[in-house]
Amino acid sequence: AATVGLNLTDIQGDIVTGMTKNRETFLFFGIADAPSFKSKLRSGVLPLITTAMQMTKNSTQPTTLVNVAFSHTGLGALNVSDTLGDGAFTGGQLADAGNLGDPGTSHWVSQFVGTNIHGVFLLASDTDANVASTVTAVTTALGDSITQIYTLQAAARPGAEQGHEHFGFLDGISNPAIQGFDDSPLPGQASVPPGEIIVGETGDPFISQRPPWAIGGSFLAFRQLEQLVPEFNKFLTDNPIRAPGFTDQQGSDLLGARMVGRWKSGAPVFLSPLADDPALGADPTRNNNFTYALNGSSTSSSTDQSRCPFSAHIRKTRPRADLGLPENTGRHILRGGIPYGPEVSDSEAASNTTSTERGLAFVSYQSSIGNGFQFLQRFWADNTGFVEQNTGFDPIIGANKGANRTVGGLDPTDPSRTITLITDFVVSRGGEYFFSPSLSALANTFTV
Ligand code: HEM
Repeated sequence: AATVGLNLTDIQGDIVTGMTKNRETFLFFGIADAPSFKSKLRSGVLPLITTAMQMTKNSTQPTTLVNVAFSHTGLGALNVSDTLGDGAFTGGQLADAGNLGDPGTSHWVSQFVGTNIHGVFLLASDTDANVASTVTAVTTALGDSITQIYTLQAAARPGAEQGHEHFGFLDGISNPAIQGFDDSPLPGQASVPPGEIIVGETGDPFISQRPPWAIGGSFLAFRQLEQLVPEFNKFLTDNPIRAPGFTDQQGSDLLGARMVGRWKSGAPVFLSPLADDPALGADPTRNNNFTYALNGSSTSSSTDQSRCPFSAHIRKTRPRADLGLPENTGRHILRGGIPYGPEVSDSEAASNTTSTERGLAFVSYQSSIGNGFQFLQRFWADNTGFVEQNTGFDPIIGANKGANRTVGGLDPTDPSRTITLITDFVVSRGGEYFFSPSLSALANTFTV
């Protein structure tokens, strides 16, 4: 039931849910022949695009989810010249590398260095074969109207690690519920006005700057984030928290959990501060039901880190009561990322050294990149003074400095202790900013 009038058959499906399939291919393309692309997109690809309606609980999802989004230079290639009211999008992610804490682009995938990626197809399914056949359907339909610039094949991790990112932590727990798409949020889930994620809808702070065809679209921030898993594990092994009665293993596990803000099972350290609680982690009615405030207060204590450090990844990226309740920060993003790359091999584990790239194909949707992804990265994760002076970097995603990032609050036995990370465990390989238009925009604005 769309209480705020969202046109769910007009909004692309990935925007409202994220992370629902086990295999996903990102196909980055250039437009070689705009008139041909437009007619082929309309006849051959538009019918394959998955809508938000198909992602509702009562609907049957298609076998393979297909979405498409365009970069700013892609809009230009299609002669769509309206200003969308988003400076980060207009500039492109390459121009934003410094703001995001990337030390230049020497680690970037070469295809992201430049502005010639015009768009991306996102194709997701449960099997590689399904994805491959849909990739073929799309590329055959478009023929030589596009050039394929770069492809990233991503996949959920196998077996018991399914749903966990490569460091081993359960992901995809906390996404905002978009009012009008999901009106029964789980306990602790943020319920956000649709315009915080979807352009032109109620709550979009830049609603007056949007051309009419942009309504129902969303900005997609894509990042290829390499994860140095053996190196991360070595760091935990070498630096166990010396809590009373803890074994080295328990101390290492506690350090990792406090860096993320959740145990590997997903259990929040705020609710279970000393040991993992897999039953809590697995229970969607409890695993997100906390605010960082004690005893039902509407703000959290400005100093208390006993249960969760201010620097913890999930506290940096969603501070909840740290910024006061009710939580209307306007900084929510809807994440739809998925791991890529193989499991850690025995030789990588034995040498504590990555030899084959793996990481997170990070996807977030927001109505403003400057309020969403960019803000979280720049002003929260990379800001050593957020939320208090000695918070330090987000130890998972804070700025790529190569070495010597300081992180506060990780040691509950001495919260004033600062731990220095000798290396980055997540390395930015770059990415691009895109606009994921409504189906009506695809059918009209993008194909005439
Ligand atoms: C939550 C890992 C990159 C924003 C999480 C969680 C994990 C995780 C394990 C907890 C699961 C959950 O609450 O759903 C990672 C890893 C990353 C990464 C390994 C890089 C390789 C990013 C980036 C951003 C981000 C780049 C944004 C700038 C968030 C947000 C949440 C989250 C907003 C939810 C916080 C909450 O609602 O409590 N991440 N993440 N993450 N992450 Fe990340």
